[in-house]
Amino acid sequence: MFCRNIYIENFRNIALADVDFCEGTNVLIGENAQGKTNLLEAIYMTALGKSFRQGTDKDVIRFGEEYCFIKNSYTDSIRDMEISMRVFSDRRAKRVEQNKVKVARTSEMVGCFKVVLFCPEHLSIIKDGPSMRRNFLDVAISQIRPLYMRSLQKYATILKERNALIRDAEENRASFDSTVDLYSEQLANEAALITLYRVKYIQKLKKYVSECFLEMTGDRELPEIEYISSCKLSEEDCFDIERCRSAYRELYLSHHDREIGAGSTLWGIHKDDMEISLNGNRARIFASQGQQRSLSLALKLAEGEIIKDECGGDYPVFLFDDVLSELDSGRREYLLSNLHGKQVILTCCEKNDIRADKIIGVSNGIFT
Ligand SMILES: Nc1ncnc2c1ncn2[C@@H]1O[C@H](COP(=O)(O)OP(=O)(O)O)[C@@H](O)[C@H]1O
Ligand SMILES: [Mg+2]
Repeated sequence: MFCRNIYIENFRNIALADVDFCEGTNVLIGENAQGKTNLLEAIYMTALGKSFRQGTDKDVIRFGEEYCFIKNSYTDSIRDMEISMRVFSDRRAKRVEQNKVKVARTSEMVGCFKVVLFCPEHLSIIKDGPSMRRNFLDVAISQIRPLYMRSLQKYATILKERNALIRDAEENRASFDSTVDLYSEQLANEAALITLYRVKYIQKLKKYVSECFLEMTGDRELPEIEYISSCKLSEEDCFDIERCRSAYRELYLSHHDREIGAGSTLWGIHKDDMEISLNGNRARIFASQGQQRSLSLALKLAEGEIIKDECGGDYPVFLFDDVLSELDSGRREYLLSNLHGKQVILTCCEKNDIRADKIIGVSNGIFT
């Protein structure tokens, strides 16, 4: 996958940009708050349909403007393609086009142009809370399994409705009793399906994380990754979708009072986690900071390898936001040596020893 050009209007501090990239390593250099991350964010949005930053779609529109527009001209393993996105300040929906044809739902464009984003926050993915790890899985799987994102959206809708029912239960117990099972059933179905996608993904992830980690560190310590499901089944049992579904159904049916007491749904894929360990010890607690960083780097590189496997040998585009300066020389060397044959767009604050194929200066939202 190769991003040839990004054309932007009114995106954050970028009024207008038309930036060509080359196939190797592209380096965006500029001082703080000039628009480096904003450019990566615009590229990312044409892959995932939404930003990696907090906030709503409309937040990316340049202050005072009525819309923003991004067009990504890229080449996949077969041909030249184009994805464009327009966000309006006064409309809920964005307008997405693929090769100039309107796409009905944003989720349909996800998986066409693929990226792996690596930013400083990812370096603490091992020790951060479970939501960071779930987010890693969700982004990674969405790009290779088009239906996964739809499932996540469906799950979120049902969960919201079920939670509302739980919150109102004390006032209106009769309505809760008559409708909750219907929602529980639907939630259990979607949860089991999403769990299956995730455990299958982790199976592939394990292999590549171990390979990268060993290459990077030369350590004897062996990484392991395990899916921790709130339905209380082991990872292995989660492969059995029927079993997982009935485990959830059972939990939902038999703990109404507990959920009403808590005011929300207590079990589901929104509570799950991915436990990473080294030689059998939880990395979150026992690994050194260096090992944790190596593991997070290995996760990101593994994410790229899996996309390549799933997409006929075609690597995604790698977006690295300020991570090189955060890594020590050993890990940096490893990362840079690993990027051979991939398109990389990375940001940094100052000139450095990175072998760049193209250098782009960034100043006040202007790219030169
Ligand atoms: N919607 C917006 N409209 C205009 N400017 C914005 C908007 N959102 C963020 N900015 C500006 O973008 C700048 C940050 O750009 P960023 O790409 O994160 O910088 P960096 O080059 O350090 O990565 C800040 O000055 C911020 O005020
Ligand atoms: Mg930045």
